Amino acid sequence: MAGAGACAALPSLPGSPRAQPAPIGQPAMARVAFEVNGDVRTLELDTRTTLLDALREHLHLTGTKKGCDHGQCGACTVIVDGHRINACLTLAVMHPEARITTIEGLGSIDRLHPMQAAFVKHDGFQCGYCTPGQICSGVAMLEEIESGIPSHVTSDLNAPAQVSEAEIRERMSGNICRCGAYSNIVEAMLEVSGRRA
Ligand code: FES
Ligand code: FES
Repeated sequence: MAGAGACAALPSLPGSPRAQPAPIGQPAMARVAFEVNGDVRTLELDTRTTLLDALREHLHLTGTKKGCDHGQCGACTVIVDGHRINACLTLAVMHPEARITTIEGLGSIDRLHPMQAAFVKHDGFQCGYCTPGQICSGVAMLEEIESGIPSHVTSDLNAPAQVSEAEIRERMSGNICRCGAYSNIVEAMLEVSGRRA
């Protein structure tokens, strides 16, 4: 998966964030560098800038959506160093040298990521607003299961977690779809996991 892996392998990036002392009434600014979809990006940001706003407003990667801006909907889910996170709940300056994957980095129109192709095949969306977050979350979610991370519904904590409809529904519960495309989203994820064609 694009974007997964340890940040230690990154070539030396131009600097961890270092906030400049701000004059009274002015925002504290800091420079942060991270890798976004394979490209090193360096930004000079107000230290209060969320990762979501850095991606959307500063890098113009508007595939990542702002739904609630409060950690309640999952529309802003991106993959940071292999883990899915809500980009609205974290500050950009907290991620120096991270590898960040957004929906734009998962696939392209000509070469869809298998999860993107499965969403198309199974009609896993209606308005599509939640879809980038659903797809990024789903990709990382299947990797969590594969790496043996249990969930609230995993019955045997001594055995490797298995992909199932119940596991997917539980693990995807932070990604809300107000169009209610859940059953098709689950079908798409089961197909990508190899559990269903
Ligand atoms: Fe981040 Fe809703 S916009 S969780
Ligand atoms: Fe409309 Fe999910 S497809 S919110």
